Amino acid sequence: MATNVNGAALDDSPIPQAVQKQSKQTVDPYNVSGEVGEDGVVKAIDYNKLVDEFGTKKIDDELLARFERVTGKRPHHFLRRGIVFSHRDFELILDRYERGEPFFLYTGRGPSSDSVHVGHTIPFEFTKWLQDTFDVPLIIMMTDDEKYLFSEKKTIEEVQGYCSNNAKDIIAIGFDPAKTFIFSDFDFVGGAFYRNIVRLSKHITLNQARAIFGFNDSTNIGRIHFGSIQGATSWASSFPHIFGEDESKTVGIPALIPCAIDQDPTDFRMTRDVSARLKYQGKPYAKPSLIHALFLPALQGPGTKMSASIDESAIFLRDTPNQIKNKINKYAFSGGKVSAEEHRIHGGDTSVDVAYQYLRFFLEDDEELERLKVEYESGRMLTGDMKAICIKELQKYVAAFQERRAKVDDEAVKLFMTRRPLQWRGNPRAPRV
Ligand code: TRP
Repeated sequence: MATNVNGAALDDSPIPQAVQKQSKQTVDPYNVSGEVGEDGVVKAIDYNKLVDEFGTKKIDDELLARFERVTGKRPHHFLRRGIVFSHRDFELILDRYERGEPFFLYTGRGPSSDSVHVGHTIPFEFTKWLQDTFDVPLIIMMTDDEKYLFSEKKTIEEVQGYCSNNAKDIIAIGFDPAKTFIFSDFDFVGGAFYRNIVRLSKHITLNQARAIFGFNDSTNIGRIHFGSIQGATSWASSFPHIFGEDESKTVGIPALIPCAIDQDPTDFRMTRDVSARLKYQGKPYAKPSLIHALFLPALQGPGTKMSASIDESAIFLRDTPNQIKNKINKYAFSGGKVSAEEHRIHGGDTSVDVAYQYLRFFLEDDEELERLKVEYESGRMLTGDMKAICIKELQKYVAAFQERRAKVDDEAVKLFMTRRPLQWRGNPRAPRV
């Protein structure tokens, strides 16, 4: 099996589902696995431990109350349920929003295949909600270069093909083209963006890159440099067509980056460190803020995330209603007891039950979700019933997605990917008409 420098699986090689030997929890951009016990069983990912290890902050009730006060909007169910659970300097973004000062949203996708699954759409769904809530520009980076550099076999042409198909999937989430710019690294690197990439790379030594990413002497140098590209997208001055040419003004505009927690340790922690040391004509660079989501678990259980290269681990956006039904019935890990009698006496465990866990993401009704939890844990509700509800909700979600996706054509991709001014609340450069 192909591995990266850390020994982690590359994205085009299957990730082993049951790691045999005992090992610690690992979460980085290339590997996600809960702790493996002496029995070889993968435990659920311990997200509290990640917050401690990474040094991020948990999103607490106080922050959510402030969010609601400032935006006048009830927090999204991902926030209410601890799915978007951790952050870095999110409160600074709320301060800016309160004062009417500019900031933008930045997220991205590595176009590694055409097999986009429902785990991929989670951060994008949340990003769309943030865009609707804050009414600010959104920049979506497609790291086609990354997927070429970090894969053994893929050609540049292949990743470029995935890039435009993935862009269609992203557009189908429902982003507003007036406020959204999507770009591919292969197309967009140059000009102000390239100056920022080089600026960032000049402030990272090989020693630091090794420490952060685990690179070694056999790592290709493209990979070593890649973090500067993902990082430089956090700086507003990389996008003069959106924020203006005057760098002394744009260096102070921060990004809010919604992402899955595995993206935190590397590019963004590094970019925050460099931002803190940089000045442009005496003006300090804004550090990006981050807001982190946990992973949608693989069908096999909460110890790892869905994998695009393992069909039975994930629900794909192109799955038919029947495929969704069969996968959940056949593979979704159950928190129920071995027999119905025992289940009725002791009840099921919703914390590991995959059907219930998916409903936390996809069922919006809080009361109904609570009812299902109580019923299942009391033993009145059986695994099959929980699965049936989960199947219905996922079929609904995927069908709605497919309907929107069918309407996204090449013209739409061109529009989103064209360099142009964007329109948003309080932007003096391109007032909304
Ligand atoms: N490296 C990410 C991936 O492989 C893509 C990415 C680029 C990204 N910039 C980002 C993800 C910002 C989240 C936020 O998928």
